Amino acid sequence: MLNMLLLGAPGAGKGTQAERLKKRLKLYHLSTGDILRDAVKKGTTLGKKAKEFMDRGELVPDQIILDMVKEVIEQKVKKDSSLQGFLYDGFPRTIHQAEGLDLMLADRKEQVDVAIYIEVDRDTVLKRISGRRTCSSCGALYNVYFKPPEKEGICDICGAELYTREDDNKKTVINRFDTYIKNTMPLIRYYEEKDKLMRVEGKSTPDEVFEQIIKTLDKRFNIK
Ligand code: AP5
Repeated sequence: MLNMLLLGAPGAGKGTQAERLKKRLKLYHLSTGDILRDAVKKGTTLGKKAKEFMDRGELVPDQIILDMVKEVIEQKVKKDSSLQGFLYDGFPRTIHQAEGLDLMLADRKEQVDVAIYIEVDRDTVLKRISGRRTCSSCGALYNVYFKPPEKEGICDICGAELYTREDDNKKTVINRFDTYIKNTMPLIRYYEEKDKLMRVEGKSTPDEVFEQIIKTLDKRFNIK
């Protein structure tokens, strides 16, 4: 079972690359942000708890996230015997979450195999986030500057309406970015010290970033 992480600032392109990687490597895409947004939409207890943190651009408390991830892993492993591994997107986000994940995986005689760090500067991510639009039905990602849909406001794939994420407003984005610097950046060192970190330059086009990731993975794991 392969355990691969995607690290990077808000808007670095984690979700965009996860879509490509999960298809190529047949991994289960576990995005804590997507799970939380779904819970908020459905109004579950988890969603109600998470919403106030997400609206402020702060992190949802570690224990809530760790319990949620554990449950998803257990359910997925039980249901799908052909599973090749997990692609964690937006998780872990603190040292405590990273240590929690290490323990969870150790219980299953597994470990984090690689942490891919998508490096992008602040101005680029702020522009990307301000242009992001998401499909309300299939979740496909668009960008009014970099990848506009053929028909404004409508998903090319399924024809549903596109929306702007609630936490993509300027004030919340700045908080998300500061939270990232304070809480998540230390993970770069954490995985570097364990020799798990792979850096990729995230400013190029999505296809170019993807090719870089595949080339770097191939050098390490012989993955094509
Ligand atoms: P989450 O959903 O994880 O948001 P995030 O980390 O802020 O990341 P984003 O989804 O904004 O960006 P991305 O890197 O996926 O970029 P994308 O591919 O979409 O978390 C949201 C909130 O949930 C958090 O603030 C927190 O409150 C909570 N949360 C989640 N996980 C948590 C955890 N583990 N612990 C505690 N709290 C947690 O791309 C962005 C845009 O740019 C798109 O429009 C895309 O089309 C475009 N784009 C992407 N790549 C390129 C490129 N190479 N060139 C041009 N445009 C590009």
